[in-house]
Amino acid sequence: MSQLHTPVLLRESVDYLITKNDGIYFEGTLGFGGHTQEILKQLDKKGSIVSTDVDKGAFEYCKNKFRDDERVKLYKFNFSLIDVIAKIESIEFFDGILADLGVSSFQLESAAAGFSYSIHSELDLRLDKSLRKTAADFINQETEEEIARVIFEYGEEKNSRKIARQISEARKNKRIKTTDELKKIIMSVTNPKYLTKTLSRVFQALRIYVNDELSVLKSFLENSVEVLNEGGRLVVISYHSLEDRIVKEFFKYESLSCVCPPEAPICTCGKIKRLNILTKKPIIPSDSEVNKNKRSRSAKLRVAERI
Ligand SMILES: C[S@@+](CC[C@H](N)C(=O)[O-])C[C@H]1O[C@@H](n2cnc3c(N)ncnc32)[C@H](O)[C@@H]1O
Repeated sequence: MSQLHTPVLLRESVDYLITKNDGIYFEGTLGFGGHTQEILKQLDKKGSIVSTDVDKGAFEYCKNKFRDDERVKLYKFNFSLIDVIAKIESIEFFDGILADLGVSSFQLESAAAGFSYSIHSELDLRLDKSLRKTAADFINQETEEEIARVIFEYGEEKNSRKIARQISEARKNKRIKTTDELKKIIMSVTNPKYLTKTLSRVFQALRIYVNDELSVLKSFLENSVEVLNEGGRLVVISYHSLEDRIVKEFFKYESLSCVCPPEAPICTCGKIKRLNILTKKPIIPSDSEVNKNKRSRSAKLRVAERI
């Protein structure tokens, strides 16, 4: 691995995020500190940032990286706990909030994490190693129907039933423990033409399930709006359609001032508009960024401003 992680849409996301140089900012996805470092560059001495990551390795790495900068506070918390972190820090409102979802290149390529079907490792997929259930636990213990549902809903994989059936057969003989074992099971029921896509989808589905990523993202967005200052921006970079849809729909809902049915004669819903959408269409990486960093190709950046 040449670099631990190359930050994606770095300039675009940080330019949107920073509205004042002496503000208090939050990054929910610290990773190897690429975005946090760029944010710090744009802040003056009075500005500060609170960043968090569930990954112990990323947290320890950044503890050391930012050890001499008093403007940085680091947590090893789930980002959905942004409101709790704000309380601990006695911060009423952040002036900007950033989440760069997904996993870092290091996590993806490290055998310890078991995130990638192309690396032989334990079938784990937990971002936070204190979570109880690994991907191996899930595919060995759950019903065939539930496995098929997860692969279909979170991986958008049409062959989900066939794959779940094969998993259920294979585990009768012995526990499925490694990425390679799961890969072989998937290969046995997949047309080689679609194998790479299918493998990515199944591993994505398992990762989303094990880390409860979609519910966590929804909680994060809801809690963020509560602790975002007027004029502050919520900046989210997502890497697959399920995440992007959640961000898009959340922004849309929060930008409406009424959700009454169109035929209602007067508004009775009491809905309050809390966000203005600043990116009508998501911002995507330039060709040059994608050429330099293939991992950026699926990124989508959306930004909304607190009213
Ligand atoms: C794409 S990387 C972020 C990279 C970082 N912005 C950088 O430039 O180095 C995503 C990071 O978010 C972390 N992460 C994912 N879900 C999380 C969650 N719910 N709470 C906290 N951290 C999370 C992952 O462990 C990973 O380190």
